[in-house]
Amino acid sequence: MLNINYSLKSLKIIVEKVKPSKIVLVSSNNLIPKLNWAITELKELTPVEIKIIQVPDGEVAKEWGVLKELLSDFIEVGLNRKSIVIALGGGSITDLVGFASSIYQRGVPYINIPTTLLAQIDSSIGGKTAINFLDYKNQIGSFYNPIAIIIDSRFLETLTERQIIDGFAEIIKYGLIKDPSILEIIKSCNLAALREESVMEGLISKSIKVKEYFIEKDPYDLNIRQILNFGHTIAHSLELKYNLSHGEAVLIGMMEELKLGEQLGEASPEIKNYLGVLLKNLNITLNKKQLKVDWKSILHDKKISGKEINLPVVKKLGEAKLIKVRLDKLISLIK
Ligand SMILES: NC(=O)c1ccc[n+]([C@@H]2O[C@H](COP(=O)([O-])OP(=O)(O)OC[C@H]3O[C@@H](n4cnc5c(N)ncnc54)[C@H](O)[C@@H]3O)[C@@H](O)[C@H]2O)c1
Ligand SMILES: [Zn+2]
Repeated sequence: MLNINYSLKSLKIIVEKVKPSKIVLVSSNNLIPKLNWAITELKELTPVEIKIIQVPDGEVAKEWGVLKELLSDFIEVGLNRKSIVIALGGGSITDLVGFASSIYQRGVPYINIPTTLLAQIDSSIGGKTAINFLDYKNQIGSFYNPIAIIIDSRFLETLTERQIIDGFAEIIKYGLIKDPSILEIIKSCNLAALREESVMEGLISKSIKVKEYFIEKDPYDLNIRQILNFGHTIAHSLELKYNLSHGEAVLIGMMEELKLGEQLGEASPEIKNYLGVLLKNLNITLNKKQLKVDWKSILHDKKISGKEINLPVVKKLGEAKLIKVRLDKLISLIK
């Protein structure tokens, strides 16, 4: 069971239980001033001093050089396996800090405090940590679970609409693959109503339950967890090429993979139409440019084994499965 908490105050209980010798909090140069209120609150919750370590913001945080700097900082502050590391930030920070914590002295306990919607419902949960390497995303990493995840909806107040939509793409994905009640909520509200705290908290906890369901069944991503990758085979092939946000790429990817599902005789057009209605509700218009999927990048997909790919398909709203598709067939359908 994951230790998920919905208040910053839970840090007090964790610290009382673990009794760490030292606590360090890692965040980005952009976030530390913005999230000063949270850092102050966290400092007040523990008698152990919290040392702050600053890393670069965004995807740059996942560079090899930044990891090296961070590990040097860990040594400099005298961190050891009785210490606690806190990651405060979006997915870039939790991915970097999780990985650094997993390799420093063969593993030091860490806590994720995710601050974007995407990180709260996705990247902070499931134990996947990574940095980028030689232009390959998430190429070096580990499976290493935080001792706790602390989610606070106040962080969402300062996110831009684009950042919120990035999170919504994954929330819709959870609805399509497992929990249609998520889709009903989104269908019945507009974006402003969805951003209300109580609605958001409901969607976040439902989303986390879906992710938990898959990671508990398959922690190392060998089979059923790959369903969480729905929409991502095509998304990854468009995201960098057209400089789309991850969320936008995933929304397009889901739409296109639903079409593929239809061509493979696995899905009905109603699902695609339903997704269209949700997007309209959220005021999202997908990029109408002629996007051409780069099938060469599909060949790097982690779901490939031999000449086949394990493709997640949504059979009905809330019901998905993996099917094996020959790569040559997939490419001919995409082209
Ligand atoms: N480990 C996993 O399972 C997993 C899953 C999905 C994505 N990811 C990774 O997550 C990363 C993307 O994460 P992200 O979308 O959270 O982006 P991010 O961490 O790069 O943050 C994006 C921007 O949002 C800002 N930000 C963060 N919190 C804020 C707040 N509360 N208010 C205002 N601004 C804030 C940051 O400073 C940054 O500029 C990618 O590197 C991706 O590979 C990992
Ligand atoms: Zn994603």
